Amino acid sequence: ATANAAPTLTIPYGAAVRGDVLVDDYNYRKALIDHCQLIVAEGSMKWESIHPTPDRFDFYDGDKLINFAEQNGMKMRGHTLVWYAAMPEWALAIKGANQANSEMSRHIETVVGRYRGRIPSWDVVNEAVADEPTASDYLRPNVWLENLGKDYLATAFRRAHASDDQVQLVINEYDIECVGEQYKRRREALLRIVRDLRDRDVPVHAVGLQGHLRGELEIDKHALSEFVSQVKAMGLDVLVTELDVTDNLLPPDQQERDTIVASRVEDFLGAIFDAARPTAIVTWGISDRHTWVPMYFTREDGRHNRPLPLDRNYRPKAMMEVIERF
Ligand code: XIL
Repeated sequence: ATANAAPTLTIPYGAAVRGDVLVDDYNYRKALIDHCQLIVAEGSMKWESIHPTPDRFDFYDGDKLINFAEQNGMKMRGHTLVWYAAMPEWALAIKGANQANSEMSRHIETVVGRYRGRIPSWDVVNEAVADEPTASDYLRPNVWLENLGKDYLATAFRRAHASDDQVQLVINEYDIECVGEQYKRRREALLRIVRDLRDRDVPVHAVGLQGHLRGELEIDKHALSEFVSQVKAMGLDVLVTELDVTDNLLPPDQQERDTIVASRVEDFLGAIFDAARPTAIVTWGISDRHTWVPMYFTREDGRHNRPLPLDRNYRPKAMMEVIERF
C-alpha cells in the first residue's frame, strides 16, 4: 500500500452455521465459503448437543462443522461452554459444590481439549448478566451460580485456559447497546463482572457483544462507545458474536425494511469502531432463509423476516454492504 492509502481493515467476518443445513443446501455452503473467514456452530457445541448424557460426548456435528471450516480455509469460534440454556436434564440436576466443580471442569476440559489448537476463540460464559440486573442481584440464576456462587465465572475461565492456553476467552452478552435505563444497568453489570475477574487475575480476554438488534429500537451510540472504551481500558478486546436485526415490527415494504436494518447495523458497528476495532464480526446466520428470528418474532403480515446480510436467495442486502465497509 502507498503511504497515503487508507488502511485496509481486516476484521474477519463470519456466521453461525447449522450442521443439518450445511449438508442439505449447496447454496448455503457456497455463500459461507464466498463470504466468511470464520464460522461458529449455532447449536452443535452447546452442552445439550455435545454432552447429552453424563457419559457421552457427541462430537459428530461439531467435527463436521470444523472440518468444513478447515477444508475451506476458515477458522471456527467455539460457542458455548457455560450457559443457563441448552442444558440437558442431567446437568440441570447437578447438586452441591463438589459435583458442580467437577462436572463443569470435566465438560470444559473435554470439549476445549477435543478442539485444542483448532478453535482460536471460545465463548466461555454466555449470558451471565441477569435479565434485569440490580446492584445486589446482577447475575442470572443458573445451576452453577446456585451451587458455586459467583466463583463459577472464575472457575469456568480458569478451566478453559488450562485446557488450551492459546484461546481467546470470551464473556458473551446480549442487550448491551440500546437506549434506556435497562440497557445501562446491563452494561454496568457486565463491566462489574469483567472488572471483578480482572482484579482476581482470571484469564478473560474479550467481551462478546451478541448484537441481536431490534429494528424498532435505537442504538445508544455514545453509551456503546463508552462501554467499549471501558472494556479496552481494562485490557480486553471486544468482538461482535451474533449480529442480526429482528424486523417483525418494521414496515412491510422490503426496501424500506432493509434500509432500516442496515442503518441499525451501521449505528451499532460505528459506535463500536469509534472506540476500538472488534476482533471479529459474526452474524447469527448468513441468509434470511435460515434464521432463528421467526422462532420468536414472526410478522403479523405473514412476510418473511429479513434479519441477516443475505436474502433468501443468497443475494447480498444493504446489511452486507454495511458490514463490508467496516
Ligand atoms: C439460538 C439458536 O439460534 C436457536 O436455533 C436455538 O434453538 C436457541 O438458541 N443467544 C445465544 C445463542 O447465545 O446461542 C442463541 O441461539 C440465540 C441467543
